[in-house]
Amino acid sequence: MKIAIVGTGYVGLVTGACFSEMGVDVTCVDVQADKIENLKKGILPIYEPGLEDMVHRNYTAGRLKFTTDLTECLDDVEVVFSAVGTPPDEDGSADLRYVLEVARTIGQNMNKYVLVVTKSTVPVGTAKKVKAAIQEELDKRNVQIEFDVASNPEFLKEGDAVDDFMKPDRVVVGVESDRAKKIMEQLYKPFMMNNYRLIFTDIPSAEMIKYAANSMLATRISFMNDIANLCELVGADVNMVRKGIGADSRIGRKFLYPGCGYGGSCFPKDVKALIKTAEKNGYPMKVLKAVEEVNETQKGILFDKLLKAFKNDVKGKRIAMWGLAFKPETDDMREAPALVLIDKLVDAGATVKAYDPIAMNECKRRVGDKIEYASDMYDAVLDADALLLVTEWKEFRMPSWGVLKKTMKTSVIIDGRNIYDKKELEGMGFSYTCIGK
Ligand SMILES: NC(=O)c1ccc[n+]([C@@H]2O[C@H](COP(=O)([O-])OP(=O)(O)OC[C@H]3O[C@@H](n4cnc5c(N)ncnc54)[C@H](O)[C@@H]3O)[C@@H](O)[C@H]2O)c1
Repeated sequence: MKIAIVGTGYVGLVTGACFSEMGVDVTCVDVQADKIENLKKGILPIYEPGLEDMVHRNYTAGRLKFTTDLTECLDDVEVVFSAVGTPPDEDGSADLRYVLEVARTIGQNMNKYVLVVTKSTVPVGTAKKVKAAIQEELDKRNVQIEFDVASNPEFLKEGDAVDDFMKPDRVVVGVESDRAKKIMEQLYKPFMMNNYRLIFTDIPSAEMIKYAANSMLATRISFMNDIANLCELVGADVNMVRKGIGADSRIGRKFLYPGCGYGGSCFPKDVKALIKTAEKNGYPMKVLKAVEEVNETQKGILFDKLLKAFKNDVKGKRIAMWGLAFKPETDDMREAPALVLIDKLVDAGATVKAYDPIAMNECKRRVGDKIEYASDMYDAVLDADALLLVTEWKEFRMPSWGVLKKTMKTSVIIDGRNIYDKKELEGMGFSYTCIGK
């Protein structure tokens, strides 16, 4: 089968690479010419474990192509996936500008049947708008060409994206015709060999499933952050509480980790967009508004703990930061807690020296010389008054504490991800604070 994927970002590139790995003929399209030129040279725009090899392999085999012009392949493909960005509008609702631009390009140029599948995260009702935009363009051309729309929200996690796509928990597809259902069944069949996890729904339900899933996960995080903050006040240990409640099979162990707030390109914007969709329909999403509020406060919690450690004055202090990306195994810093912390620290007169295994360039692009960049994790702590652990990369899990003890000016460690042992560190003379203990 031949398909096109419009939008070659985290979702589009992973989708394209994984379909081509299964033998599908894929053309990835993006408006950013430099991104496409780099991809043709083997330079990837993002970091994602396992992706580079997969892209090279399939590009060399001729199953994966890159272009800036969708019309080059439109006559040859049966399916066009739209995986363009849907950033938040000024009021928090999803900006559908790019999704509808793609729809109009298809309507203006298609000459035969095509199935248009929206993979971007879009509010309920978007497929109808996509359909109307295509039809409007066909009407302008005075032609009648059959087409279908479908909704196929993506659930991959950055940092694990290739694995998630190749071995999905489930694939949700919203359709309104048998023809579209058959095409999608055929396309996803190679991913369903061991375990059939393809869920067909109507289109509005598929669109809602994605927002409901992300909002549920964000809710678990904010709930656990609330519980962690209360644990600190009443003398409980959130780690024990987490294990205790996670053992209940109705609750489950996953996504119960407190920390310094959720970030990334999805949770913050999807929670906002769902609140907005509800508002537009006259319904207040009270739980989700609280989820957002807790998260905003939590992003500043490491700063609050630092202030406490230095009697409310961090002016002139040298603060080391381990981790910048919003989570490990990605270079993505969209809505990362590290950005909030950097602002607060710099505004308070502290100097920040940061290290992240992958996201250093992304951070330079975003905050420039507002902070210092370390050559490695130990360089970051040299002469530091305190260390903030912001992202739980594996290489930060077992540092050489002896080196830190010798090279830090004061031995203050603030652990935003609860990965260190309080007793062990206090035994070595560190002042150690984490979340919820
Ligand atoms: N990043 C994730 O982890 C993730 C997971 C699931 C779903 N999603 C959703 O998938 C969508 C894409 O997210 P992303 O993180 O891949 O975004 P991204 O910003 O990494 O990529 C989007 C790409 O679309 C391109 N683009 C925009 N308009 C275009 C057009 N008219 N024609 C061709 N290309 C165009 C941009 O240049 C960009 O390269 C969003 O709706 C997001 O919410 C993202």
